[in-house]
Amino acid sequence: MEAQEKLDTIMHEVIIDNTHHKHVFSNNIESIGIYKKSMKKAIKAIGNHLKERNTPFTGNSISTIKKKIDNIHLEENKKGKSLDYVLDELKDIYLDDCIHFHNPKYIAHLNCPILTPTLVAEAFISSLNSSMDTYDQSTGGTFIELKLVDWTIDKLGYPENADGIFTSGGTQSNMMGLLLARDHYIKKHYAIDPKMDGIPAEASKFRILCSEVSHFSLKKNLSLLGLGQNAVVPVAVDPDFKMNVSALKKVIQQQKDLGNIPIAIVGTAGTTDFGSIDPLAEIASVANENDIWFHVDAAYGGGLLISNLYKEKLDGIELSDSVTIDYHKTFYQPVSSSGFFMRDKSFVDYIKYHSDYLNSKEQEDEGIPNMVKKSIQTTRRFDALKLWFTLRMIGTEGLSSYMEKAIANAQFTADLLRNRDDFEIIHKPEISAVVFRYTPFTGNENSYCEINSYIRKAIFNEGKAIITSTKVYNEVFLKFTLLNPLTTPKDIEEVIDLIVYHGNEYSLKN
Ligand SMILES: Cc1ncc(COP(=O)(O)O)c(C=O)c1O
Repeated sequence: MEAQEKLDTIMHEVIIDNTHHKHVFSNNIESIGIYKKSMKKAIKAIGNHLKERNTPFTGNSISTIKKKIDNIHLEENKKGKSLDYVLDELKDIYLDDCIHFHNPKYIAHLNCPILTPTLVAEAFISSLNSSMDTYDQSTGGTFIELKLVDWTIDKLGYPENADGIFTSGGTQSNMMGLLLARDHYIKKHYAIDPKMDGIPAEASKFRILCSEVSHFSLKKNLSLLGLGQNAVVPVAVDPDFKMNVSALKKVIQQQKDLGNIPIAIVGTAGTTDFGSIDPLAEIASVANENDIWFHVDAAYGGGLLISNLYKEKLDGIELSDSVTIDYHKTFYQPVSSSGFFMRDKSFVDYIKYHSDYLNSKEQEDEGIPNMVKKSIQTTRRFDALKLWFTLRMIGTEGLSSYMEKAIANAQFTADLLRNRDDFEIIHKPEISAVVFRYTPFTGNENSYCEINSYIRKAIFNEGKAIITSTKVYNEVFLKFTLLNPLTTPKDIEEVIDLIVYHGNEYSLKN
């Protein structure tokens, strides 16, 4: 049988007709036309949606939202639907109730509003779909990412021999810090190569010290790394929720006395709840005295690196062995965009792997920069392009002004609450998170947990604003995480009015 005949027979069995091929993105005129028309419709739908709503949420219930999606049958039509149909459906099942992080009254979690240049970058990232694992899948993209890595290294004050990589988020970056810390210790103290042989039996005694208010990803990562969550030893904090260095020294000694082996200290530059920044320089010298790894989780506080007003808050970060920075928090990037940085390129050896099909040793000898050797991912998005567009179009001055505005808003909130008898604020905000609670005179202080839990839920269910809550020493507190430079003092005052309104509503009901 002729080759074409054979192919036709196979194709007949696989696909009856080729009408679906128009959806395969390509450089033919029809495909480019479909792409332009489709994107125009998508952009119009997004624009209309944004115009329609002025609140961060609709307040619709979980059951209402779930039911809309339950009602969709993915295979009711095996041939698929039109874009118009899917967009209409999306409005109902997702857009109408989605949470608007860009709304000035969204002040709950560490979600930032994003910048228009990053959305332009996203179009290039997804339509060209480069993969950053190797040079032969990304070409110039590799050098763009490397330039941003070098830019961040310079801001960190790391030595020239430092290195870094974009990651999916702070959780993954922290995982890399802990992995390097673990393997660095093993390589130095045991006659085994952890990359090849795994971890020694004594690893069950390895301990990582971090403040009691550090991020939960440390525990999660340690269980994934085979050290177990119990390897985390919490260190007490001072009244502003920063690691207490005398307590750290004591805990290290206590752990040694117990026969355990401290292998790393993690300092947090911007704790999730309080935005507090541990005393990094002092922690660095404790790590140095004990000859152990020092990782800084600057997922939140990393944005201060580019602020002339506030970069000193991160003094000491340059003394660390590794750092986590989340660009998708305080660099105003869309999810996902994060970075992991190490002070010495040679640490890459702990994770480096050569695969003949991807990044052979021969390619490395030729000097081809295949980034996969530095990453725990293989296929990886070109997230760096978003930061590239941001720096090229907005610049560091504009970018740092957003965070500076957020910090000013946090200070405004703290001053406002401090001057009221019916609120209690429990810290001096360091960055842009404010933790406080509504404490009206009810004659029953025990009810504060219930009142504040009620307030958070009632505000969410109403949709006009979104705030969050956390527990401090087992008591419920409310939290604002202010990142949006468009949030005004008036917005803040209105959210505080909502808190009082729902607090009083609770008192009337109970
Ligand atoms: C201090 C800190 N570290 C790590 C993380 C985890 O980051 P991601 O959600 O990007 O994985 C967070 C998330 O809020 C955080 O606040």
